[in-house]
Amino acid sequence: MTRYHSGYEKAAHLYDLFDCKENIEFFYHYARQVGEILDIGAGTGRVAIPLAERGVNVYCVEPSPAMRHEFKKKLAFQPELKKRITLVAADASSFRFDRKFPAAFLAGCFDHFLDDEQRLASLNNIADHLEVGGKLIFDVFLGLLEERPCSPGETIKSGAFEYHRYIGKKRLADNTQETHLIFETYKAGELVEQVEEDNLVGIISWENILRLLGKAGFRVNRAFSNYNFTPYQEESPLLIIEARKSSAK
Ligand SMILES: C[S@@+](CC[C@H](N)C(=O)[O-])C[C@H]1O[C@@H](n2cnc3c(N)ncnc32)[C@H](O)[C@@H]1O
Repeated sequence: MTRYHSGYEKAAHLYDLFDCKENIEFFYHYARQVGEILDIGAGTGRVAIPLAERGVNVYCVEPSPAMRHEFKKKLAFQPELKKRITLVAADASSFRFDRKFPAAFLAGCFDHFLDDEQRLASLNNIADHLEVGGKLIFDVFLGLLEERPCSPGETIKSGAFEYHRYIGKKRLADNTQETHLIFETYKAGELVEQVEEDNLVGIISWENILRLLGKAGFRVNRAFSNYNFTPYQEESPLLIIEARKSSAK
């Protein structure tokens, strides 16, 4: 296996609080067309669970034990949902199912592939699990060049608790970026928990993504700048790709 780096082991219990992107409807648009999907890098089930609640069968792949733990906690008292969700411990380049799927999602996951070897191994493995014509939908940040010292980010209030996140970003030599995160939880003004975590993402260009997709047997159908299906505009830091497996492998 290549360079999997987990940046979610310590703060997985805080993930859903801070990372609540409004992209469920976007992914549901694709999931409802086919009724079953592969969700790779499924995390806490933030995307998979609402899809399963709407009748989609979701096959999830997630390498982080802490993220899987959060996912399983949500399923614990929901037997109906459990029937529609399969969760396996693996990364994108090594998961195995004995069948092929009509569609696969990488939501917030492609950025974590740290070099071309890992990207290609992952895309090839996903292609192996897709039917010919099957879709791969994924988002990627092209604007990952920002450096900043660790400084206050978001504050979230929930019940009796107030959560603060501090974020620092540093570009590393090998086209990766390290994000340093500090989470602080306060109750009645008193600090009750502090967690620090380092998260690594890879920096990649549009051209390189196209090249790797081609090598793995994918063609790009459409590209968007946001989760409202706005066609991709150059300079948009967020790139969302709808690709199709074009050949049998
Ligand atoms: C930003 S989170 C996204 C989680 C979820 N898809 C969502 O949208 O909320 C990225 C997830 O990708 C997982 N991940 C990181 N590297 C991975 C890899 N090589 N293969 C599969 N998943 C990976 C992380 O453990 C984490 O759960």
